[in-house]
Amino acid sequence: MNEADSEGIAAAFRRRGYTLTDDIKKADAVVVNTCTVRQKAEDKAISQIGRLRVWKEKRPEGKVFVVGCAAQKLGGKNIKHRFPFVDEVVGAKSIEKFEDSLIAQLGPSPEGETEHQNIYRSPQTAYTTVMRGCSLKCSYCIVPAVRGPAVCLSPEAVLEDAAAKLKAGAKEIVLLGQTVNSYKYGKTTFSELLKKTLALPGLARLRFMSPHPVYFDDAFTALLASEPKLARHMHLPVQSGSDRILRLMRRGYTRGAYLGLLERLRGAAPDLAVSTDFIVGYPGETEQDFADTLALVEEGRFSLAYCFKYSPRTDRPEMSATISEAEMEARLEKLLAAVKKNSRLVLNERIGKIEEVLFETETYGRASGNFAVRVKAGGTPGKVEKVLTAGAEKNTLNGKIL
Ligand code: 5AD
Ligand code: SF4
Repeated sequence: MNEADSEGIAAAFRRRGYTLTDDIKKADAVVVNTCTVRQKAEDKAISQIGRLRVWKEKRPEGKVFVVGCAAQKLGGKNIKHRFPFVDEVVGAKSIEKFEDSLIAQLGPSPEGETEHQNIYRSPQTAYTTVMRGCSLKCSYCIVPAVRGPAVCLSPEAVLEDAAAKLKAGAKEIVLLGQTVNSYKYGKTTFSELLKKTLALPGLARLRFMSPHPVYFDDAFTALLASEPKLARHMHLPVQSGSDRILRLMRRGYTRGAYLGLLERLRGAAPDLAVSTDFIVGYPGETEQDFADTLALVEEGRFSLAYCFKYSPRTDRPEMSATISEAEMEARLEKLLAAVKKNSRLVLNERIGKIEEVLFETETYGRASGNFAVRVKAGGTPGKVEKVLTAGAEKNTLNGKIL
């Protein structure tokens, strides 16, 4: 989500004739887009802002913008008080109004459109935001507080954005939303939005991020079964394998319901790759709860899992961690090892099979299941080709174009 917002911000700068640079010494303006999902992310953002003091001293006419979720949480006054050299603060809730801050600093916006430019993904892939914020109340999560309740964009706005990005050369669209499959605008459901997007000219593949387990319905599974352009991968955060912890987290499903959902999804698309997120050390997590999470790694057959140590996002005493930092670290290590082992098994199962690969270079691309794939030669950037895989090395499949 932050990457998509950053691309929108970069586009606003480009409309004024600015270009991106990796070299801060050459920059006329710096935008720090901040995250606060865990305390570590917020700390990083703060130290990043702190480091700009020297830059601003050398370049007093340069502009510093601090935007995003940590900016929203800490507040503009607070940030400007701590870092007086910051010119503008734009919180996540008003990130769409970033242009107003640009106007305040740099004068009125010139007319004209800029072509879409991909910053974070390959040139083949573009993000399209379909909803902002989140209306769920997972007990550990700060997102609803800093991004506000869920608001869906109209299907017209979504399709216009996706079409423009396809016209500018993208082949793959990633529809973005905090609970993207809860999308509803008037009568348009998530599945209908997918269908409309799938019909856009030039689209080779459609992804979405991130769905929530409670919002999948039969219409979606039917679409998954019948639409090969819908990617055979899904990032479906589960957070814990313990029913007790899932209930405390207010996730709205049980371990059994989640596994049942995986079965239904894989029934519709047998080669579906599923990745996930886990949190370890949630308040009150026992050895048994953790063992349930550990066991889920294999049972869920996840291709990949991001594992996080629980980070309290409020001062409420009942929300502070109940295990020691050493224990937290030990559980994380165990989980990471299980994930690594399992990911390798899942990857090995793909060897000797045919993968649909969207090439980024002549030798590298991504399979529909999101696996990285390498070939010796022959790939056409922007084209989907069938690759017969022969082996795997360091999370990357290798093979030959058929
Ligand atoms: N502590 C640790 N991890 C968290 N996440 C969200 N909030 C927290 C928190 N307070 C993780 C979840 C989510 C991912 C984006 O970040 O796993 O899916
Ligand atoms: Fe946070 Fe995701 Fe839960 Fe929304 S669904 S509260 S963004 S973890």
